Amino acid sequence: MDLFDQIFRRRSQHRFRTPEKMTEDDLRSVRKAVLSAVPLDPSIKTETKIVPASETSCKLGAEYCILFYSEKKGDWLRNVGYIGEQIDLFLTAGNIGTLWYGFGKTKEKKRNGLDFVIMIAVSKIPASCFRASPSDAKRKPSEKTWSGDLDAIADVVRLSPSAVNTQPWYTECKNGTLRVFRNTKNLIMPAGVTDYFNRIDVGIYLLILEICLSHAGLSYERRLFADTEKTNDAKVPAAFYELSAGEEQIKRINGYENVMLDVSRALDSGDPTEDGISEKIARLEAYYGSFEWKVDFQSDEAGILPGNLKRGVLSEDGVYDLTDRYRSAVGEQER
Ligand SMILES: Cc1cc2nc3c(=O)[nH]c(=O)nc-3n(C[C@H](O)[C@H](O)[C@H](O)COP(=O)(O)O)c2cc1C
Repeated sequence: MDLFDQIFRRRSQHRFRTPEKMTEDDLRSVRKAVLSAVPLDPSIKTETKIVPASETSCKLGAEYCILFYSEKKGDWLRNVGYIGEQIDLFLTAGNIGTLWYGFGKTKEKKRNGLDFVIMIAVSKIPASCFRASPSDAKRKPSEKTWSGDLDAIADVVRLSPSAVNTQPWYTECKNGTLRVFRNTKNLIMPAGVTDYFNRIDVGIYLLILEICLSHAGLSYERRLFADTEKTNDAKVPAAFYELSAGEEQIKRINGYENVMLDVSRALDSGDPTEDGISEKIARLEAYYGSFEWKVDFQSDEAGILPGNLKRGVLSEDGVYDLTDRYRSAVGEQER
């Protein structure tokens, strides 16, 4: 399931003001979300348990809480963040509201030898309770958390949720490599608490970053770095991604390149009303300025695309000039 659109819709339900009773289908959805989530590190044992919120300290109006348990091994906190965010976005798609609830407590602190890590509170809520526009999200400007290429991706990944909205990540994108760091200088909470939650936050961020890359059709090879020791470094490496143009991205650019050629040919032949041309113009216009176009354009600038790929459709004014030419030609014919 492509969860890209849910990044824009999800928001923390700090209070579940208008919860609706969860149906058996909704609960099935929660179980499915939990079962389908993939870990960042499969060697770390984890378990999740869905319990009525009344069995926890959660008094925010949610009906259920998803409890996360983990073996304390390697980057267990980051791993839980990565798993939990898949569940968060999956549930958002089904209009089930969520809240990562770091301060939530449960009596069952251990389960099958694993430790309680964190919970996500959930309830069915009206669709109107989700985020209507990314501009409603309070976030640092992306210049503060991202440098280098591919800022179309920075604009989306900045919407990742984090404890007390600390946004403890910094990404550099240069020469086709994305380097993600955990920023350790977030002094909103005591240091130990910050480190605990910010490691979960980085797992959430990596998941959202990977959804963006996959949605854009980019391929990547991920290298994870251990972030388990106490450190005075301001930035701790979390994961590096070697990027390349994926099959889907190349297919998309080729496809739009061909659409552009078809329209050019029709205009050269003097018949702008040829069958299908207005539709092709509409497709080009929808692509031009879209997230996909921006990523394709910026991938070209970043040197990620293969040298022999035809890419007139990615020139700054190529599509604009062609659609302009089309409108003038159609106008001429109508006169
Ligand atoms: C790991 C984690 C723990 C959080 N803990 C709490 C919490 O205990 N109480 C709360 O009201 N919000 C909590 N939040 C929600 C954040 O405050 C919220 O994600 C952030 O302010 C950004 O807002 P948004 O999620 O609506 O985009 C937590 C978020 C994360 C990722």
